[in-house]
Amino acid sequence: MESTHNVDPLYPSREEVLPLLEQVHIKGLSLDLSNSKSRKDLMETTRALSLALETPMEAIVRMAWAEKSLMPLVYTAMNLNLFAKMNENGASPKSYEKLAEMTDSDPILLGRILKHLAAMSFVNETGPGVFANTRLSQSMLHPDYSSAIPFLETTLSKSFNALPKFLVDTKYRNCTDPMKSAFQAGHNTSLSAFEWSSTTPGQLELLTTYMAGYNRTLTRWMDKDCYPVEQNLYIDLSKEPDAVLLVDVGGGTGHDIVDFHKQYSGLSGRLILQDRPDVIASVTNLPNKIEKMPHDFFTEQPIKGARAYYLHFILHDWPDSACLDILQNLKPALKKGYSKILINDHVVPAQNAHYSTTGLDIMMMSLFASMERTEEHWRGLIEKAGLKIVAIWTYERGTESLIEIEVP
Ligand SMILES: C[S@@+](CC[C@H](N)C(=O)[O-])C[C@H]1O[C@@H](n2cnc3c(N)ncnc32)[C@H](O)[C@@H]1O
Repeated sequence: MESTHNVDPLYPSREEVLPLLEQVHIKGLSLDLSNSKSRKDLMETTRALSLALETPMEAIVRMAWAEKSLMPLVYTAMNLNLFAKMNENGASPKSYEKLAEMTDSDPILLGRILKHLAAMSFVNETGPGVFANTRLSQSMLHPDYSSAIPFLETTLSKSFNALPKFLVDTKYRNCTDPMKSAFQAGHNTSLSAFEWSSTTPGQLELLTTYMAGYNRTLTRWMDKDCYPVEQNLYIDLSKEPDAVLLVDVGGGTGHDIVDFHKQYSGLSGRLILQDRPDVIASVTNLPNKIEKMPHDFFTEQPIKGARAYYLHFILHDWPDSACLDILQNLKPALKKGYSKILINDHVVPAQNAHYSTTGLDIMMMSLFASMERTEEHWRGLIEKAGLKIVAIWTYERGTESLIEIEVP
């Protein structure tokens, strides 16, 4: 008997599916895996195709049960050290009973966890009840990737879960008070997310290691052939012996400035890492070349006339009024015609933003009552601070742009 689904307007249609299939074919033929634009373009089209094939209830099941339960299970597997155990003895596939023995867990429980991880392609089920790591589960053994899971599963998911009720309680206003966001509701605290991360054992380390891993694994402005560092920052660097090349303002534990130093090790000029005193105190083994300095960016910038002040994932943590405060505290340090502010944040496209940008915007809303900004919004904010944008460098969809700013 023929299904009636193909006439239901809520069901997938050939008109929607076939053009996407065609595009997948065309983009697949020219796929260049060494080019992340080509790879991501095909990935977005295959995702659109897969979604176009889904019925509404299949989409709901995927989002509400399948994906929602995945992160807690990955976190549990990490707590059990499961992915490392799966690699033992030459990484040969292992039964769930064997893995339960190796992780000191209940075989029925572990078997159920592994089944879902396999159903979501996180691990491979190579035979009935027999499992092996995939490229993805294998990545959980690398700190650049694994550090994301505990941070996202503890700090973030409680804030996301609290968001719907928070929005009811705040009558669907766009909240801009960092002391009153879904974060406080989800964590039952009156502290800001930054205060909470400083005073809750283990949280500061989770935040900083997660940020380091996230940053290292994406295309960045300082990568080769992206922002012209030598031409725009170095050629005109002051010849004074104490000239400062880059101040990393709110630089966390220094992963960016360390990588900048590695990439441009031949360049002279001081490199300075600034952050809150507790973060700076936690930083160990920086290369000698990088100076540490506790600094609250809501107070006047003490390093005057540096060639560049770099703010990565700083302004997106704060509502406009606080961003203006940060910029006003930085502005007196700028030397006209010489110093630059480099803001490294997402610039939300006017249309069809990538989900990593829009999802990050909701993350900022939930944690800090802050936001990702469109180009128009950035221009208005920078102008209000009495500064001017000289260029916006965008490298890859769904990642941060570099906004180059000077004194007008
Ligand atoms: C989202 S993290 C970004 C860290 C780093 N720039 C990066 O991209 O990985 C925000 C940083 O701002 C720092 N921060 C928050 N409030 C600050 C303040 N008032 N003064 C200086 N740093 C602050 C935090 O400690 C944290 O390291």
